[in-house]
Amino acid sequence: MVISELAKWRDEFPILSRSVYMISNSLGAMPRQAARDLAEYADVWATRGVRGWEERWWEMPTEVGNKIARVIGAPAGAVSMHENVTTAHMVALSCVRPAGARKRIVCTAMDFPSMVHLYRAQEAAGFELCVVPADDDLTVSTDRVLEAIDESTAVVAFSHVLFRTSYIMDAAAIIQRAREVGATVILDTYQSAGIIPVDVAALGVDFAVGGCLKWLCGGPGNAFLYTRPDLLAVARPAFTGWLAHEHPFDFEIGDVPMRRDAMHMMNGTPSIPAYYAALAGLDIVDAIGVDRIRDASTRMTARLLALVDHYGFTSAAARDPARLAGTVAVNVPDALLVSRTLKARDVIVDYRPPVGIRISPHFYNTMDEVDRVMAEIASVTATRTYVGADGTSLVT
Ligand SMILES: Cc1ncc(COP(=O)(O)O)c(C=O)c1O
Repeated sequence: MVISELAKWRDEFPILSRSVYMISNSLGAMPRQAARDLAEYADVWATRGVRGWEERWWEMPTEVGNKIARVIGAPAGAVSMHENVTTAHMVALSCVRPAGARKRIVCTAMDFPSMVHLYRAQEAAGFELCVVPADDDLTVSTDRVLEAIDESTAVVAFSHVLFRTSYIMDAAAIIQRAREVGATVILDTYQSAGIIPVDVAALGVDFAVGGCLKWLCGGPGNAFLYTRPDLLAVARPAFTGWLAHEHPFDFEIGDVPMRRDAMHMMNGTPSIPAYYAALAGLDIVDAIGVDRIRDASTRMTARLLALVDHYGFTSAAARDPARLAGTVAVNVPDALLVSRTLKARDVIVDYRPPVGIRISPHFYNTMDEVDRVMAEIASVTATRTYVGADGTSLVT
């Protein structure tokens, strides 16, 4: 059985004809159109050369940022583009200075490790880090986060959806508390944008970061930063550069006028080929609409959990569908080897300790594929015959 009318999009994703591709929380499938767009980039570079900048490339971060804005509930002109989410976080963090007793960054133990390392590194700049611990089920209790936020909090930075368990944090409650005490909020939407509805304006965050790599099917190099529009007029990112200038080609080094749109948050020369790669996925997600994607996703994750029970596996996924985003992690003995074996058989999943095999269906997957992944895990687990297990790659 195919998930509703969304199956018509399958032809747009070449990898679906040769594998069961169920890892969109890590790398979304490449749209066929992305290859044409990348060819166009190469053609512009080859035939127009440096004129590419004035003809399209200089303003391309805004072009892509405005497409992202439609997906996350932001107005046009509020989303800047960055190489990765760590960098986007740093740009946002660089707008905040520790001031007197207000110097604490509050994050959680289940945020993506790169972020926690980045926050900890800010201790050198006078910040103090508070990492709210996880519960036994690898989620983070809202109450614990709320308790950690007080008048000494400068920044509250946390994942909207946790990358291991796909648990949806109570973002509204945490943001409300942060705003009550006057702390700056940075929301990491990397595991939410494109798979569950996100409305950064309604949430009232100061900053939101994310990327096109995963659920937005845009490939690497396309991280984004939403800055609340009124902040764009006053934010002074310490991590800045000439892209933020109103007249960058004046090459002034004094106190120059800054752009008032999202380019205000940018710094050096942007990753143009990555932007070409992102266009098609963003257009497809926008055409389908995140509500419909969420609907299909919810049905597939429910089926995955039913099969977890059927086969007697365990899962760290929340059983309340309202708290579960797009991924179901399935734990079995030798989960890393099972995941490698599946990949060798063209059933593409990944492995993350301690939750096991992460399965992330997207709008282009079918219920048959959901059943197939779980049947494969059951069969490999029963026979314990592993292939691809001798891989020496760091990547799991
Ligand atoms: C929630 C979340 N934040 C951040 C990242 C990675 O950030 P970066 O783009 O800096 O590699 C991931 C990667 O999987 C993630 O799941």
